[in-house]
Amino acid sequence: MADSKYSMEDIVSLCKRRGFVYPGSEIYGGEAGLYDFGPYGVELLNNIKKAWWKANVQLKPNYVGLDSAMFKNPKVWDASGHTSGFSDPLAECKNCNARIRVDKELEKVGVTADEKMSEDELNKLFDENRDKIKCPNCGKKDFSNVKAFNLLVKSNLGDFTDTGERPVYLPGEACQGIYLNFKNITDTTRMQVPFGVAQIGKAFRNEISPRNFLFRTRELEQMDTQLFIRPNENKENYEKAKEDRWKWYLSLGVKEENLRWKQHENLVFYCKEAWDIEYNFPTWGFDEIEGIHDRTDYDLSQHQKFSGTDLTYTDPRVGDKYIPWVVETSAGTGRVFLAVLSDAYVEEEVNGEKRTVLKFKEELAPIKAVVSPLLRNKPELVEKAKEVFEKLSQDKMCEYDDNGNIGKRYRRADEIGVPKCITVDFQTLEDGTVTVRDRDTMEQVRVKIEEL
Ligand code: GAP
Repeated sequence: MADSKYSMEDIVSLCKRRGFVYPGSEIYGGEAGLYDFGPYGVELLNNIKKAWWKANVQLKPNYVGLDSAMFKNPKVWDASGHTSGFSDPLAECKNCNARIRVDKELEKVGVTADEKMSEDELNKLFDENRDKIKCPNCGKKDFSNVKAFNLLVKSNLGDFTDTGERPVYLPGEACQGIYLNFKNITDTTRMQVPFGVAQIGKAFRNEISPRNFLFRTRELEQMDTQLFIRPNENKENYEKAKEDRWKWYLSLGVKEENLRWKQHENLVFYCKEAWDIEYNFPTWGFDEIEGIHDRTDYDLSQHQKFSGTDLTYTDPRVGDKYIPWVVETSAGTGRVFLAVLSDAYVEEEVNGEKRTVLKFKEELAPIKAVVSPLLRNKPELVEKAKEVFEKLSQDKMCEYDDNGNIGKRYRRADEIGVPKCITVDFQTLEDGTVTVRDRDTMEQVRVKIEEL
């Protein structure tokens, strides 16, 4: 586990206590698989997305960004294979009506269900192992037959029929908008194959059993890149994408010993090869945070077939025509958020007291500095501290805090991972210096206000 001293419960509790993540619709008793990011959570999430965008768009000359509409013509999901093939095997407990994900329950008893299995094949495999599988809710072993449960979430946008004849879907994966705009991008920009398109977008999945906090949710967000390449140039581009994505996690400060690769034996319908980057989560251990997929020409060929639009590309350098192949990287923002938080979480003892610290890299810290007057009842210190706060917050997310004593302010700042605490005291009024306390070493130095 990330650091076996801490559990996911410690992380969940800190997230709630300090305004990182709240259970969705909490005042109504909640709603499974949904969470809201609070004031510090949204800052951390935005910083992760900014770091990703910088690495994948700003620093890569052959990549461009996109923000496509979530709703799409429903035929898109027929072409992509989601209306027919995007399902999880579900069975219901006849005693308590709990729904189980059959592949996950089989996995627990050492049996692998291939993603491509038909409903009949799944039922056969389930029947062979029924005696080993207990309902996680009531412990009984009496289940219904297995049904392939489609994960797409339906809506009625633009459907005025009352009977739901033309369902439209919320995106099952964010990346489809990139394929739909492949032609637009090559027609309107100077991008030539090989080039990549990056997008951060929401996806929705009717997960049978949302679980593990932000890990498996029904509403999620994905940071995707799709690299369009010449046919058969996938091997080298795939290896490069893997290397590149691994390094990105290290650049965020995630400890390398908490990361590992896992190759997919059971491939989803669009994939020729798939590797996951896994993070060693507290409590349940290594699990997927990002997938790198060799999608070949599957997506563009399907969209060409279903839309009737010619998506062949004429290579201006070689002069030949082809449907480009795709190498995809896809990371869930919620999972990356949880990995970054788990990796930064530390409990220490300082002078006999427990201190909880989030040791984020400064780039990711939700708040970069807290500015305080030494005493809140001295107007001259308060005025000066507010002046310093105003100056610093022009460039960075800072907070002004004059609640409680200075020790309490430090503890509060540590718990949300603030790298520097700046205190204005009487000496400030004389020589224009303030104390700057470092989150990790807890050392304090005097710095001139102009040099902050
Ligand atoms: N376009 C490719 C795709 O959607 P995926 O492996 O299904 O591939 C990519 O998803 C990433 O999205 C995963 O590695 C994970 O980080 C995130 N993800 C998928 N399902 C999720 C869920 N139910 N809750 C949270 N994150 C999820």
